[in-house]
Amino acid sequence: MPDNVQVSILPHHVAIVMDGNGRWAKQKNKPRTFGHQAGSRLLHEIVEESKNQGIHVLTVFAFSSENWKRPQQESSFLMGLFIKVMQREINELHSNHIQVRFIGDRSVLSKTLQQVIADAEKLTAGNHKMVLQVALSYSGQWDIATAARCVAEKVSGGELAVADVDEQHFAAELSFADLPDVDFFIRTGGELRISNFILWQAAYAELYFSDVLWPDFSVVEYRKALEEFAHRQRRFGRTGEQVLAS
Ligand code: IPE
Ligand code: IPE
Ligand code: MG
Repeated sequence: MPDNVQVSILPHHVAIVMDGNGRWAKQKNKPRTFGHQAGSRLLHEIVEESKNQGIHVLTVFAFSSENWKRPQQESSFLMGLFIKVMQREINELHSNHIQVRFIGDRSVLSKTLQQVIADAEKLTAGNHKMVLQVALSYSGQWDIATAARCVAEKVSGGELAVADVDEQHFAAELSFADLPDVDFFIRTGGELRISNFILWQAAYAELYFSDVLWPDFSVVEYRKALEEFAHRQRRFGRTGEQVLAS
């Protein structure tokens, strides 16, 4: 696939639910872990393509708060995989000027994984080509509840008046408050649901669902999705005529 195929109108912030690894492996009579490994290789390509297209922020759902309910063997395999993938990819990400960040409840992660995350974030903090956010032990409801706790602390500390608690003050306490909201929300794997991924900051995201299982999702499929985004009319409450006139 040539590198120079550019999509016309790009989302600033793409969020992807990388779903379907387990079913992909099952189709091949392999263990689910085989699917997760294949999925991590595809992520490398999607990051590269996002950077080449000029996307500012790519957020990927790697492990949800609810995924802790999976068999212990699968979640510990995944935690080990996250460590290996970061160790394998971090130097290339850094040399491509990509800033790596993690969102989610990192207090429940192993000390080793916490260290790998801290090192990756520190190394790449000054990079400005693109932000890659990995949502790990993340859920939209966790994010909102954590922000609510911060707002409550500010109110009880006298820093913020109850009457001043509005969308703006609240959003300032959420994860990635310094980054644009999600413009384009992609889910692979055929399920038509959000599964507690980004909620507040995806309030006006365009949604795109693909039946392709994540390890089979490709740069070609990704470009197809981006092309569709370019043809959506985003109205943000206004009429289509107002948008055309603006
Ligand atoms: C997504 O693939 C990866 C994670 C949730 C970690 P799944 O593991 O959910 O794959 P399916 O949905 O069972 O096929
Ligand atoms: C969402 O996929 C989480 C990730 C892709 C990391 P799931 O496979 O966990 O979602 P549900 O449980 O089918 O809704
Ligand atoms: Mg799934």
